[in-house]
Amino acid sequence: MNSQVQVLIGTQWGDEGKGRVVDVLASEADVIVRYQGGANAGHTVVAGGRKYVFHLLPSGMLYPDRVCIMGNGMVVDPEQLETELLGLDPSPETIGTKLVLSGGAHIVMPYHKKLDACAEAVRGKSSSGAALGTTGKGIGPCYVDKYSRIGIRAEDMVSPDILAKKLRLNLEEKNPILEKIYGEPPFGFDELYEKALGWGRFVALFLGDSTLEIDSALADGKRILFEGAQATLLDIDHGTYPYVTSSSCVAGGCCTGAAVPPTRIDKVIGVVKAYCTRVGAGPFPTEKLDAVGEQLRKNGAEYGATTGRPRRCGWLDLVALNYAVKVNGLDSIALTKLDVLSGLDELKICLAYDVDGVERVSFPGSAAVLERARPVYKSLKPWSEDITGCRRVSDLPQAAREYVALIEETTSVRIGLIGVGPGREDTIKIL
Ligand code: GDP
Ligand code: IMO
Ligand code: MG
Repeated sequence: MNSQVQVLIGTQWGDEGKGRVVDVLASEADVIVRYQGGANAGHTVVAGGRKYVFHLLPSGMLYPDRVCIMGNGMVVDPEQLETELLGLDPSPETIGTKLVLSGGAHIVMPYHKKLDACAEAVRGKSSSGAALGTTGKGIGPCYVDKYSRIGIRAEDMVSPDILAKKLRLNLEEKNPILEKIYGEPPFGFDELYEKALGWGRFVALFLGDSTLEIDSALADGKRILFEGAQATLLDIDHGTYPYVTSSSCVAGGCCTGAAVPPTRIDKVIGVVKAYCTRVGAGPFPTEKLDAVGEQLRKNGAEYGATTGRPRRCGWLDLVALNYAVKVNGLDSIALTKLDVLSGLDELKICLAYDVDGVERVSFPGSAAVLERARPVYKSLKPWSEDITGCRRVSDLPQAAREYVALIEETTSVRIGLIGVGPGREDTIKIL
């Protein structure tokens, strides 16, 4: 890692392999920071013969003597945090990793998860709506509370009086909605308050000032890696709204979600899966609903790391990728899962869209327009060789090198790393 401050983000609809790339880059970082989203994320790291799935913790937790920060832009489910930390082996104590949870991060409460499920059920049944296919982790309702300034923050969890006041106010607002609109039982204050006090005692172990931590790390010349969750096309502003998540997943999100000044960011890395996947509803121009889609799902084990849902699969979409290049200002690309394309009978890549008979190479900002986009493909030569053992670009078959070269040419962004398998060592490092 030759830059001090690097931001890593997803360029598609999530699950590009951000966790595995963070794990590789974290070997040369001092501080790893999550800055948005919550337990809707599922970031997989395969190291030392073990598979870890991080939902809330930064994917640098497996290295000794690192500082891992959960920034103010996150929404944190304390029960999930406890489960995740207790399940870690080696544990943070033995490995010496310091975990800092920002006092400004918002807490996901059980009523957020309930409201998430209720809203999805209503949208799904309504003739004028459609379920978004959320992860059910309470993400949307928690961010709603943040922006309507009623949310409970991590810092409130350790002040019993403030917690009681805020919880009472929230239940006064949420219980009538649950009962009268959704026909659900209300949450009792006493029971939830008792539980929340327990979560508060746990949260207190990690509570800190992430803004100061990051500021002093910058001043000390420490190498900081920001780990985006979800991805560009799921971003609340720049994604395929309303089929998005509720946070700022693009690179700029780290400036508000973790207080790094924009002028201090040295490098933005975009993680690109060698094909496309999407979980949940929303437009997906290159989706393959046939045997090709099945084969990609099977070869790539494309099932959600958080919900276990089968992921929708399709060809790589360079129109969407070029949009992500622009929105995030990518300096380099980490290309993952190239090995999954080995052995396909055909190989296609989308270079343009046909929308209502007009060809375009710009990504439409509107989901309604994107729904009408028909992909214009270029066919490439497939390859049959197993590439898992390749460690240099020159080890790759010619057809795979051509595939990689087409991505670089079309995006004008250098590929700095290629994933040829899920393990830490299954990596071709270029830059
Ligand atoms: P994230 O949410 O972006 O971190 O990605 P996920 O962890 O949800 O999904 C990526 C999946 O692909 C995980 O199961 C990874 O272990 C796996 N993976 C990552 N990189 C590669 C790769 O280069 N090759 C293969 N075969 N699997 C990979
Ligand atoms: P990582 O970080 C893939 C999707 C959901 C749904 C939409 C909204 O592992 O890449 P939400 O629960 O956030 O309100 O759901 O966003 N989604 C993801 N898809 N990877 C993720 O995270 C996702 N996080 C949310 O499937 O379509
Ligand atoms: Mg994931």
